[in-house]
Amino acid sequence: MPATHVFETQDGATYTTSNGAPVAEPYAAGKIGNSGPLLLQDFHHIDLLAHFDRERIPERVVHAKGAGAHGYFEVTHDITDLTCAALFNKVGNKARITIRFSTVGGESGSADTARDPRGFAIKIRTEEGNLDWVFNNTPVFFIRDPAKFPHFIHTQKRDPQTHLKDPDMFWDYLSQNPESTHQVMILFGDRGIPDGYHHMHGYSGHTFKFVKEDGSFVYTRIHFRVRGGFKTIPAEKATELAGSNPDYGIEAMFNAIEKGDYPTYDVFVQTMTVEQAEKFKWNHLDLTKVWPHGEFPLRPIGKAVLNENPKNYFAEIEQVAFSPSHVVPGFEASADPVLQSRLFSYPDTHRHRLGVNYQQLPVNAPIVPIANFQRDGAMTFASQGSRPNYQSSIQPLTYQKKRANYIHRHEKFIGHALLDLTEISELDFEQPRALWNKVFDDGARERFIKNVAGHLGGAKSAEVKKRQLAVFTTVDKNLGDRLASALGIPPVGPIKVKSASESWRFKSTLAD
Ligand code: HEM
Repeated sequence: MPATHVFETQDGATYTTSNGAPVAEPYAAGKIGNSGPLLLQDFHHIDLLAHFDRERIPERVVHAKGAGAHGYFEVTHDITDLTCAALFNKVGNKARITIRFSTVGGESGSADTARDPRGFAIKIRTEEGNLDWVFNNTPVFFIRDPAKFPHFIHTQKRDPQTHLKDPDMFWDYLSQNPESTHQVMILFGDRGIPDGYHHMHGYSGHTFKFVKEDGSFVYTRIHFRVRGGFKTIPAEKATELAGSNPDYGIEAMFNAIEKGDYPTYDVFVQTMTVEQAEKFKWNHLDLTKVWPHGEFPLRPIGKAVLNENPKNYFAEIEQVAFSPSHVVPGFEASADPVLQSRLFSYPDTHRHRLGVNYQQLPVNAPIVPIANFQRDGAMTFASQGSRPNYQSSIQPLTYQKKRANYIHRHEKFIGHALLDLTEISELDFEQPRALWNKVFDDGARERFIKNVAGHLGGAKSAEVKKRQLAVFTTVDKNLGDRLASALGIPPVGPIKVKSASESWRFKSTLAD
């Protein structure tokens, strides 16, 4: 039987070595005489140092800095017309959750007030296994071709030679990949610096699928809307906090929860049928676009509350392992290629970061028993006892009967899916243009220009500046001209892109 007491703490416990032997003197080091060299036989001393030497595990390659807490998710509205997931089979169902919020680009010691998207990852412990919703605080993302992810991330990490962050790399990438513009405009707008971790919304970004027992499905996008609204910090204040209190976000959330001021989120879904997807102006899998709320209204489904701080940050937050591939029957990934790549990438990095048995760690272990043919491996502490490790007729497992008729039907592919998502066209500039003209007010536009000019102005390459200016000019001429003036360089014309009617999107939906 595993010794569960290793996870507990006791007040006034007797000091011991790691094998549990009591030690009288914590600073003692066995040596020969008063000044002699140390003795290898002093296990207590070697145990202490050897463990200390191995305290670090790899930090997350992205989203390394973060804060997390536990709480619950409660189903508030009936959505049995959308999904057969047991979690949603009754209004009032509750599940324990762990949420981890994070910045993306910086190292684990970097400032919480960086201008960066924020991760918003939720582990929902359901009676059909863990459902992970690994979201961000923005409804769109920079890429829609997954192979671009490592390139894009590297441009926000450190230069291979100088080991410095480099605005030239950052804008060099973005100016060559203008599908990023929508996300870039959100990033350099007010929402680019949320006020800590617990005053922001969360979005699936990706399109997922709610599936019913007969295999029918709808596409969905999920929204967590924080009660009290999305709060942001002015750029100057963020810079000041980065020096005076780089852990501002972690501290604020921990204190809020300790005080009983629990972060609470109302959870909504947008849904889209296959028929609607075929007629939709944009590709329904395009992660750089929002689904307009007028056309696809928010439907309430639940609420989430964070009411418990971790007792041990490392065990409960650093070791938590989220993956978009941790899903339960009734909720599936769509064919969005970025999402499909993520399905591989997260468990892969967990095996590297935490080990092959990462799902056995207490924070990751499902609340339901595991029964399968996976055995052993490094740091196994739950190896399924004496149960056969093969498909045995003598002691067989039972198999889920409930969904015997569950047909795993993939969505219908329409048109030139690959070209559609890869190609840049005028369709890519409509939502950024609406953001600039309709969502931003005068003050927001002013701050946007200042924020971009401050960052892009740091790039040394005139070519990179010009190219990015052309991208913003394609969004809106007035935006381009104002930015040119703030950068102190001549205005430029827009980039050349296909018109909407020449795009593969148009051809694939209207000509097919
Ligand atoms: C973390 C890969 C896109 C949200 C990570 C990690 C990897 C990764 C390797 C580190 C995980 C860990 O060590 O635990 C990728 C790849 C992407 C991608 C390959 C695209 C091809 C996205 C998108 C979103 C997202 C589009 C949101 C919509 C997150 C979050 C975390 C994370 C929230 C932090 C999870 C945590 O708190 O532990 N990603 N990512 N990622 N990613 Fe992504």
